[in-house]
Amino acid sequence: MVRRETLHMILTLCLCLVNIDAAPMDVQRRADGSVLLDDMLYSAEQWDSFLDKNLLSMESLWPKKDGVVNIFYKISDPGVNTTALNLAITAWEAKTCIKFSKMTESDERAEYMDFLLDKSCHAGVGYFEGQPTKVSLANCPERGPTHEIGHALGMKHEQARSDRDDNIIVYMANIKPGMEHNYDKAPTINFEVPYDYYSLMQYRDRVSHTSIILNPKESAGGEAHSN
Ligand SMILES: *[C@@H]1O[C@H](CO)[C@@H](O)[C@H](O)[C@H]1NC(C)=O
Ligand SMILES: [Zn+2]
Repeated sequence: MVRRETLHMILTLCLCLVNIDAAPMDVQRRADGSVLLDDMLYSAEQWDSFLDKNLLSMESLWPKKDGVVNIFYKISDPGVNTTALNLAITAWEAKTCIKFSKMTESDERAEYMDFLLDKSCHAGVGYFEGQPTKVSLANCPERGPTHEIGHALGMKHEQARSDRDDNIIVYMANIKPGMEHNYDKAPTINFEVPYDYYSLMQYRDRVSHTSIILNPKESAGGEAHSN
């Protein structure tokens, strides 16, 4: 039997399609051509391929073998808070078929999660053939590492779901100018799983404290979401 939250988390892994139609074209590229949008770091190749195809392909999901998604990882900066990281890893392992294994010194595989400290708390989105997915755990809030691993697994934010307007109200007028793209919708596949207000990929309205009303049709759900 699969618990509801487990199912949500697993299925949400598939919600990784990205629509760049509505993306701002004036984004700042970093020195290596990559683009940091909110807390998601897109490689130059990924960003350029969005412009060609509009969609992040299903290949951005980490491979699954014999019912298990084995993710290898490295901690490249000794300053990474391993207590916080291990809590995040344990949370994912407890609720999904994902298993994390720390790489040995001699392991030369190309695809793995690379935990490091860049300038902010952010992550690459999904699996990359031939290169690691970088997860920066600098200045993360308490649930930050769990959330960033969600991005590294290929997930977008819950409020980017294609059906979000049936479930939440986004007040664009209340969003800080220039931050609107963080509230873009994507043509996600939702597998008929209802919108998950409690998803760890749901914004707790941190960009503007009045920009999202969750569950407008059932006001009882409201108070649990402030953060
Ligand atoms: C490391 O993370 C743990 C768990 O979130 C936290 O309690 C602790 O204060 C953190 N340590 C530092 C040095 O930030
Ligand atoms: Zn995020």
